[in-house]
Amino acid sequence: METIRWTVDINVEKSEGYPQISEAADYLRHGHVVAFPTETVYGLGADATSDTAVQGIFDAKGRPSDNPLIVHISNPESLDELVSSISNDATQLIQTFWPGPLTIIFNKKNGVFSDLVTAGLDTIGIRMPSHPVALELITRSGKPLAAPSANTSGKPSPTSAAHVARDLTGRIKGIVDGGETGVGLESTVIDCTVTPPMILRPGGVSAEEIEACIGQVLVDPSLKKEQSVPRSPGMKYTHYAPTAPLYLIKGEAEWIQQTINRFKGEGKKVGLLASEELAAQLTADIVEVCGRRKDPATIARGLYHAIRSFNDTDADIILAEAFDEKGIGAAIMNRLEKAAGHKWIKESSS
Ligand code: TXA
Ligand code: MG
Repeated sequence: METIRWTVDINVEKSEGYPQISEAADYLRHGHVVAFPTETVYGLGADATSDTAVQGIFDAKGRPSDNPLIVHISNPESLDELVSSISNDATQLIQTFWPGPLTIIFNKKNGVFSDLVTAGLDTIGIRMPSHPVALELITRSGKPLAAPSANTSGKPSPTSAAHVARDLTGRIKGIVDGGETGVGLESTVIDCTVTPPMILRPGGVSAEEIEACIGQVLVDPSLKKEQSVPRSPGMKYTHYAPTAPLYLIKGEAEWIQQTINRFKGEGKKVGLLASEELAAQLTADIVEVCGRRKDPATIARGLYHAIRSFNDTDADIILAEAFDEKGIGAAIMNRLEKAAGHKWIKESSS
């Protein structure tokens, strides 16, 4: 299959009457699979009401069929046709965080979505993204769009059209290239079918921001433990992993340098994934800087690109800096823990 590339600068596109987005939307309306930018990561979209369209997503990604997809809408009013009820907490969250990186789990209305979207569950995850290209595309397609992250299953989510192209060229109808994404990590998933609501996946909206809006929420306890089964089906799969084994590392810079040197002494090419601040204090064979520690949003934005970059190197082992879990840090550490398969190297005193 030839994969079409639509390069979209939203201001030019708007002044010309949205020619490229309209063409991509036509393909979506006709059941094809098209990747598009959101403010979090690129999504792989298809008509959420069509079995054949949604099957195309699973085929292109190699995604396990028991992992449900998030549905993207461009107008909160369309929710009434999609879900059976909207709790007060959900209403508050929608008013505060939509459009934006928050996916809310509702009880679904029967007979609307392809069963493939929900993987047989009675619930459905929905969000309204804030990226102008995504909003225009959804509106023009006239459909709720199922869209997981547009990566091959198991790889880090794509934060640029180049990442999508690398994983999915020849496997999907097209890619709408709207430049690099802003947040860089996926949306927060919160289940509002339970009281109090429960965060199933940390993401672009922090637990602190959610609690400031609706009061105390729960966090799926299995997110902290390697063994237990998470409530969000997707959280049980290995994710975001580069080809070389990745370890989280925690300790003083001097001790981290000794650890790097020890691996080098064993003949290994050592990769370091770190903030600007830590990277400036260390030497390793390959260094990928993901952002600035004093500005965690930059770490979130650069993390997946940095992880992907190691696949173009001959690193034998990757050591990744551990970050503070406050705010967006919870999502950063959740993704790093998964990329590391929960493997840590810690200085004994820290
Ligand atoms: O930022 C994002 O959310 C991106 C962009 C493209 O919107 N999408 C994304 O989708 O990350 P995906 O499919 O890679 O992740 C969806 C997550 C999975 O962990 C899945 O298990 C969970 O949401 N999920 C979806 N529906 C659910 C449901 N009904 N109950 C529990 N978890 C659900
Ligand atoms: Mg994903």
